Amino acid sequence: MSGLEIAGATALVTGASRGFGRGIATALSRAGAQVTGLARDRGPLDELRAELGGSFTAVAADAADPNVAGRLIDVCKPRILVLNAGATPLPRPIQQHTWETFGRNWDVDVRHVFGWTREALLAPLAPGSIVITLSSGAALRGSPLSGGYAGAKAAIRWLTSYAAQESAREGFGIRFVSLLPQLTPATELGAVFAAAYAGRAGGPAGGQGPALTPERVGQAVIELVTGTDPGQDAYLLTAAGLRPL
Ligand SMILES: NC(=O)c1ccc[n+]([C@@H]2O[C@H](COP(=O)([O-])OP(=O)(O)OC[C@H]3O[C@@H](n4cnc5c(N)ncnc54)[C@H](OP(=O)(O)O)[C@@H]3O)[C@@H](O)[C@H]2O)c1
Repeated sequence: MSGLEIAGATALVTGASRGFGRGIATALSRAGAQVTGLARDRGPLDELRAELGGSFTAVAADAADPNVAGRLIDVCKPRILVLNAGATPLPRPIQQHTWETFGRNWDVDVRHVFGWTREALLAPLAPGSIVITLSSGAALRGSPLSGGYAGAKAAIRWLTSYAAQESAREGFGIRFVSLLPQLTPATELGAVFAAAYAGRAGGPAGGQGPALTPERVGQAVIELVTGTDPGQDAYLLTAAGLRPL
């Protein structure tokens, strides 16, 4: 399958107000896409709209609400859908979690990817569309200070792979790809865990070498959208770039 022309394409990014989502929305907007960005807090979204201008539409909504997914897929008809929104887990060892804090990333991250992926297949999105989900490097190596986070992110990787299989079986021509970024202190969520693991010997550190930045994540999304599909549905992402899994 060949890559998508970004100029003039419709894109929708969940969790667009800060961190990776902001980097992704900015990269897509600067490449000429018409971007709809979602987050719950309107203030930072409005700031991004002021920065990006008319190519960016801000929507303040809960991405884990299934009604929001259904409505926005119908209205925006995205060719590029980036499911990036995620909760910051409580940074504590496992015995200090409750079931509710342990399950937080299932209730937000997995629930939202499940809902939007389902709507993307049911619509279905137009042939040649791409759905990119944010899993995590933690899905490969665990994340002992964040409760159910690593398991939730592994579920997102597999959910995305199952959707890729359904798209191929049905002949929809929709690409589904998960990204597994390394931990980085460059975002609010990442800074919490980079600090937590820095004080804990033997924990999964944020990776050696330069830190991954939101700008690099935005660039990686552009590469995935425009690149020819090698039939690959998951990539590790470090500051050095994308690595197929
Ligand atoms: N940073 C890392 O080191 C790292 C590594 C691997 C994977 N990831 C994953 O990458 C994604 C982005 O992480 P990040 O570090 O950029 O996080 P971040 O800085 O905390 O930003 C999270 C974004 O998601 C939005 N959001 C959270 N819950 C939402 C909801 N229910 N509905 C709509 N928007 C919601 C936030 O805005 P509001 O709070 O206003 O809603 C914000 O825009 C997450 O899925 C995360 O798990 C991050």
